Amino acid sequence: MNILFFSTQPYDITYFNQANTDNTHHFRFLEYPLNEDNTALIKDETAVCIFVNDKADAAVIRLLKEKGIRLIALRCAGFNNVDLKAAAEAGMKVVRVPAYSPHAVAEHAVTLLLALNRKIYKSYNRVRDNNFTLSGLEGFDVYGKTVGVIGTGNIGAVFCRIMLGFGCKVLAHDVYNNQELMEAGVTYVAPETIMAQSDIISLHCPLTQDTKHLINAHTIHQMKRGVTLINTSRGGLIDTKAVVEALKNGHIGALGIDVYEQEEQLFFQNFSGTIIQDDVLSRLTTFPNVLVTAHQGFFTREALTQIAETTLTNIAAFEKNEPLKNEITQG
Ligand code: NAI
Repeated sequence: MNILFFSTQPYDITYFNQANTDNTHHFRFLEYPLNEDNTALIKDETAVCIFVNDKADAAVIRLLKEKGIRLIALRCAGFNNVDLKAAAEAGMKVVRVPAYSPHAVAEHAVTLLLALNRKIYKSYNRVRDNNFTLSGLEGFDVYGKTVGVIGTGNIGAVFCRIMLGFGCKVLAHDVYNNQELMEAGVTYVAPETIMAQSDIISLHCPLTQDTKHLINAHTIHQMKRGVTLINTSRGGLIDTKAVVEALKNGHIGALGIDVYEQEEQLFFQNFSGTIIQDDVLSRLTTFPNVLVTAHQGFFTREALTQIAETTLTNIAAFEKNEPLKNEITQG
């Protein structure tokens, strides 16, 4: 099948060419994102392959249909950037990669937590500057702390188990309780209890209408003073302006984010040498207790291999008219 890739990075080309073992598929890789303007770049492709910040809203889907696109293959798990209703109305199938190394993202959440807590980013710079002092680097024992996890699907479940391994008390909230996690020692509670009792909160639920701005001025107010907040899920889960206020007044003690509400304007691109116009992100990066990574949770060899293989399996199933195991539909 002819497939047009949007938002392509060099590693996409490497891993997708590697997975296309017998050259079954023909790829064309574009660096540009999918949006209304760039659908004009489609030639003779049947499928588009897109990533987290490509936009497949109703207007784009209409244009994709006009260009003969019949399949949107997401090379990621989250699908909040696709209008599934519009896709269904256009007779277009949408597939994704529901699970690819949940360890990659869960381990990145732990990385953010530990790096923030022990100020690794500061000590790295200090030592390089021959400054071997410790003042300001003090952290806390993660052991024995209460960790609140919102969303215990593939990634959240791995994160819970890692935190149990650290000797933490793990509280969780999800619309479904995971029996195996409960047996492992996780306690499911209401979101208010997570907010009120957790020393560390990590978000692992998808971005939906229900979860948008789950972390806002009201829920921050319910949290313990000095809480560490980690978000590797989707930026829209957090009302960033409310979080900035809470960082300023010390209610939030530390923030580690791999995702950001307005990330599609910035992430995966190099703006060094440019003036960033996003004042909220610029403010965030001035805090000494904030660590921002640019959506790299998924970025391990294992995950990239699985993403490429599953995406091509999804596309092959569509081509052969076989059941689409990883199709996403509305509702
Ligand atoms: P999943 O679908 O396996 O798990 C999501 C869980 O959230 C499910 O158990 C679901 O029941 C729960 N959930 C849904 N609505 C909820 C609500 N209102 N309150 C509490 N829980 C709710 O998804 P997975 O693979 O664990 O991924 C989680 C999120 O991580 C994705 O949606 C995506 O946004 C993000 N992600 C980030 C990556 C990165 O590189 N930073 C890479 C992959 C995913």
